[in-house]
Amino acid sequence: MTGVGIDGIEIHTGKLRLDLAETFAPAKGDDPEKYTKGLGLYASSFPDTYEDIVTMGANAAHRLMERKGLTPEDIGRIDVATESAFDHSKPVSTYIAGCLEQVFDGDFHHANKGERKFACVAGTQSIDDAYNWIKAGRNRGRAALVIATDTALYARGDAGEATQGAGAVAMLIDEDPNLVELSTEQGYGSADETDFLKPNQQFPSVDGKRSVQVYLARMREALVDYQSIGGDVHPDRFRLGPFHTPFPGMVRKAAVLAYRHITRDTEIEAELADEIGRQPRHAEFDDDDAFLEAVQEYTDALTETSRYQSWYARTIDPTLSLSRRVGNWYTGSVHVARVSGLKALAEEGEDAVGKRLLVGSYGSGAQAEIHAETIQPEWRSEIDALNIDDHLASRYELSFSEYEDVHDSHNYDEETSIEEFTPPESEFAFDGWGRMGERKYRYVE
Ligand code: COA
Repeated sequence: MTGVGIDGIEIHTGKLRLDLAETFAPAKGDDPEKYTKGLGLYASSFPDTYEDIVTMGANAAHRLMERKGLTPEDIGRIDVATESAFDHSKPVSTYIAGCLEQVFDGDFHHANKGERKFACVAGTQSIDDAYNWIKAGRNRGRAALVIATDTALYARGDAGEATQGAGAVAMLIDEDPNLVELSTEQGYGSADETDFLKPNQQFPSVDGKRSVQVYLARMREALVDYQSIGGDVHPDRFRLGPFHTPFPGMVRKAAVLAYRHITRDTEIEAELADEIGRQPRHAEFDDDDAFLEAVQEYTDALTETSRYQSWYARTIDPTLSLSRRVGNWYTGSVHVARVSGLKALAEEGEDAVGKRLLVGSYGSGAQAEIHAETIQPEWRSEIDALNIDDHLASRYELSFSEYEDVHDSHNYDEETSIEEFTPPESEFAFDGWGRMGERKYRYVE
């Protein structure tokens, strides 16, 4: 069998934009640099009143299928990854399939549909399911549609409010893919954690500081596990490192720890030794505190070296450019990071065929997964086909009071009736409630 991977991607952003430095920070009495420098975020995307996880996911999938010339019969599987589902029984994929059947001839009656839940890592898990389904030969020549869609809203006044976002990523998983081939090897870091959860509630309960620590711990575990099966993770082997990006500052914290890990016992560690010494080894210390202090000192010094900074600028920074402009998309975030990185390579005109990505996904609760991807010969045409820059530029700019209204309009506990900010055009829109409490949708020409 040929390789299996991501054949094409489409990204659909919520149509409203909240500027964090200009609009949100002053209203909160914060220094704008907390957002731009500390968290690394400039703006968040929000859904207009008629947008939700179904419309955004369906719009992304619609464009992907049209662009690739696909009909419903070409799709054998539709999996939706989300942590914003509004129905405990009927999966979001059925709503999205219903939308797509409004605009395509044929139907998805013979496609297996499901919904995946494990916080932000569920999109990657859905790709796994599709990969396994194809590798097992159960796909009958058909491709899988994986859609990661979320409205990442926090309760007003919660610290997480700074990192909100809304959008969807649709991905076609197929044999002989155009964009990236997935490695069979994977590493996992998984433990029962209480850092972020939504026990029968719309907005999350979050222990933000703890969630940062859990992210780092599980990611490290996943890297060690990947190394045990995937082999050498020397920095020169990977052109890009897309990580789950709840906010770019999180990735900045993770990147230096990852670099320290993957350079240990390499010529890079030896070459840096003149400048900052060798990495501390546990066996050289009498007690844990002294060891941890030495590790922290080494890590701080490492971030200041030009060797580390140029690796970061080349491998990590390009993966963060879209996230800075849209905020957290939960299940879609790591897939937005992959696109950001590949887009940067395309914009630089780099011949990237055959180069590899080390992809790190994470979901609170908590689980990290690491695998490798190889860039395929047709990658460039897939990236050039994206219209995300135009889409981002056309977002409606919210004032703070409009932001409050939009937040309320998406809050299940608030009764509001605000006007839409943008007219729906050539897209799916929420169309009211059905007789059994289902949400209804229509395609607006
Ligand atoms: N200039 C530069 N940096 C500034 C700053 C300023 N004026 N003010 C604050 N900062 C920095 C802080 O030092 C901090 O960076 P550091 O962690 O590297 O020290 C960063 O900006 C955030 O500031 P902080 O005071 O920690 O923000 P917060 O208390 O509002 O919480 C989160 C931040 C991430 C914990 C919060 O947004 C959250 O709970 N988010 C949701 C959960 C999440 O995304 N978790 C990630 C793992 S999935």
